[in-house]
Amino acid sequence: MPLLYTKIRTLSRVCNKRDFYAILRVKMASNKQDKTAKLAYKTFRYVLDRIYDPKIQNRVIRLGGGYPVPGLLPLPKSFTENLTHYYSTGGQKERPGYDSEGGNILVRQAIARYENRKHKTNYTPENVALVAGATYGTNRILEILFRNNSEKEVLAVAPTFYKGLYRAFSLCKFRSIVIPANQNFVPTANNILSQVSKKTRVVFFCNPGNPSGKYIPQSEIKKIAENLNRLGVFLIIDEVQDAFSFLKKDYRYGNWIRSANVIRIRSVSKLFTLAEFRLGYVIADKKIIGDNHRGLIELVGYDIGNPPPVLNYFFINTLADYPKQWDKIMARRKNLAMKLLKQIPAVKKVLEPDACFNLTFKFSSWKFKTDLSLFNALIDKKVAMMPVSGFGYDTKECWMRLTFASPDHMIKKGVEVLSRLLKR
Ligand SMILES: Cc1ncc(COP(=O)(O)O)c(C=O)c1O
Repeated sequence: MPLLYTKIRTLSRVCNKRDFYAILRVKMASNKQDKTAKLAYKTFRYVLDRIYDPKIQNRVIRLGGGYPVPGLLPLPKSFTENLTHYYSTGGQKERPGYDSEGGNILVRQAIARYENRKHKTNYTPENVALVAGATYGTNRILEILFRNNSEKEVLAVAPTFYKGLYRAFSLCKFRSIVIPANQNFVPTANNILSQVSKKTRVVFFCNPGNPSGKYIPQSEIKKIAENLNRLGVFLIIDEVQDAFSFLKKDYRYGNWIRSANVIRIRSVSKLFTLAEFRLGYVIADKKIIGDNHRGLIELVGYDIGNPPPVLNYFFINTLADYPKQWDKIMARRKNLAMKLLKQIPAVKKVLEPDACFNLTFKFSSWKFKTDLSLFNALIDKKVAMMPVSGFGYDTKECWMRLTFASPDHMIKKGVEVLSRLLKR
């Protein structure tokens, strides 16, 4: 039986009629290749639309949106001073207005320095281009790589953040490989390399994973990068969730990550919780980054003129000043959420993240046979959590993602509602 049919049949059993048709109605650019990705995308869209329904949006207990509740993390003074081009006393600093297509050269230098310190690499500013957020950057990179290669495929390692890959549906073929929960959703080199075909032009994964928050061991990524390089396949690593580390040791790649086929995409959205500025950067070989006449910089230049220079001062002066106390604030929330979840008998497994502010858990309930049915019951009670089927995992496996970047009372209240629902 075709996979999509089976999945739609499952959906029709678990959703009420209105929700079932709402998911099916989600429109997408058509590409017939990948049913897992399509269904995940549609589910994610449906879930976001319910969480951010203007009628309830302000009353929802926010354990789902994947972003900190405002005010949870105090912004250091050095940040606020560098976030604008105005002095607090009035008057303007030297303002760029428009700026270079790849981002100001001082910004690109600051990012290269920051990356080299973090990963013991030797990037130069020519390896860096500023982009208007990771989603924008990923989709522009896909456009470049598939411009004359629409018959080739992107191989996405799921469960993953499909929302950021939307262009792939209309640009190229799309194929997913789903890494099971018994591997903590963490792929091995073999999982990926055994699936690469002659059609594969790009392998995409998030590191750390979204929803899992787990890092992929560096040795596996090295193996993947080297083998893909030999095969002429690009590796796009979305590192947006590389923030708020709970590891004792810093996660560090090493200079091998500079391989000509590796394209890394980063953003200030999670690392500095500055999503409203829509800024990120791409780190890659200079052939990909290009200049005003070729590559990513040319594309960005003719697409939006130049990436917004709003964070120039921030990048130059504050990029290296990540407030370490943020990790502690987040670790405390993680421990609280994990402790409370573990007290619920119907919660069978809680996966501890290595970083960021999401964790995943598995439940078992005679009443809720899918993650989507639990999601619907929770949001009816104004509690937002994400079903992991929105990231490409089987809805009947009953995994949820909880965002713990919320005040304690919200975590307690949300988990209490969850506990009551699962008790029935
Ligand atoms: C893995 C991942 N990639 C990309 C994004 C979006 O990044 P940006 O805000 O920079 O577009 C998110 C946001 O949730 C994410 O989790």
